[in-house]
Amino acid sequence: MADGESLVLAIGADHGGVGLKSLLAGEARALGHEVLDCGTASEASVDYPDFAHAVAAAVLDGRARFGVLVCGSGIGMSIAANRHHGIRCALVHDATSARLCRAHNDANVLALGARLTGEEVAREALRIFLATPYEGGRHDRRLAKLAPPVTV
Ligand code: RB5
Repeated sequence: MADGESLVLAIGADHGGVGLKSLLAGEARALGHEVLDCGTASEASVDYPDFAHAVAAAVLDGRARFGVLVCGSGIGMSIAANRHHGIRCALVHDATSARLCRAHNDANVLALGARLTGEEVAREALRIFLATPYEGGRHDRRLAKLAPPVTV
């Protein structure tokens, strides 16, 4: 995306990720983006797929350009989001994976694990995810092969 372009981000978390979600929502707003908060709003125990599905729906129906999902490990959120055709959710632990998932995989949802990834790394991952364009080219052919039905 163009430098300085304002985007809508759908953001969701379970109880394990709600604190990091707030921090990342603040970071996104500070970067000039709009946040569509899909919950959860407290540390009361909830089920991560509910929030992954809400964020995936917002990306797929065009309410949001990108999604951000946070749970304890990021694993459950990424599995749940990737059950949606058209969602390419990347579980990211560092700046390099944040860059590559956009440049090579055209990821449209970023998943983070609040119990595994520090706040500053998560913040940096979000900034890089949002700033990195998809490279296209040879990667288009590979993304086309992700469309169902997948045959091997
Ligand atoms: C919740 O305890 C935890 O299982 C969840 O946040 C996530 O890590 C699942 O993948």
